[in-house]
Amino acid sequence: MAEVILALDLPNGTDALRLLDELSGVRWVKVGSVLMTREGPVFIRTLIERGLQVFLDLKWHDIPNTVAGAVAAARDFGVGMATVHTLGGATMMEVAVAAAGDTLALVGVTVLTSHDATSYGGAVGRRNVDLGDEVRRQAKVAAAAGLAGVVCSPQEIMLVRGVLGERGRIVVPGIRRPADARGDQTRVATAKDAVGDGATHLVVGRPVLHASDPAAVFQEFLEEARCAVS
Ligand code: C5P
Repeated sequence: MAEVILALDLPNGTDALRLLDELSGVRWVKVGSVLMTREGPVFIRTLIERGLQVFLDLKWHDIPNTVAGAVAAARDFGVGMATVHTLGGATMMEVAVAAAGDTLALVGVTVLTSHDATSYGGAVGRRNVDLGDEVRRQAKVAAAAGLAGVVCSPQEIMLVRGVLGERGRIVVPGIRRPADARGDQTRVATAKDAVGDGATHLVVGRPVLHASDPAAVFQEFLEEARCAVS
């Protein structure tokens, strides 16, 4: 079984709260940079007051001191999980983990799913990059720095599980039912397959957000994630 995290990829807080009013069984919501920039931390507080766990996906990548300050602010707001870029380096991740304390789980974004081997190679100044090897390498650095886990595409779950061992969060976007539109996600999986491969948290956005009956679709994902055997 895995947790289902609803990605609140909506233009504003009013729309997000209206959607949440329609759904039942939501435990985790993901707030990204669009909603956070528009609504600010007051919105995070509103979500927490509704009894929700917040996954703050701001993908921090900065000098260690700045990231530590942002992590401490998220911790103080009661955020339950947040992202840092593993390319920020071991020291950045270590100080972030220290600032997170016991209540905030930090997970590392390895290779952005928008990259292919050529664009990633261009960004880091290397030719012939194997993205699987790169994800594995960065997951190792993240684990050594003490992060709680990693964010990855469905394609990389098993190799990340190999690095993290039995413990460790594997947070996976790109979750679709077979008939769902993929949108811009190229590497997708069903909830059942992702959990079977070792995912602990599934991030679902558009299949629910764009559904004519969001409550029913969210329920389907919830049941599939709960019944799947990891
Ligand atoms: O709408 P969809 O189900 O594709 O939403 C996936 C969510 O996960 C979006 O909020 C997206 O920004 C996020 N995400 C992703 N790929 C990553 C990290 C985060 O799709 N590598």
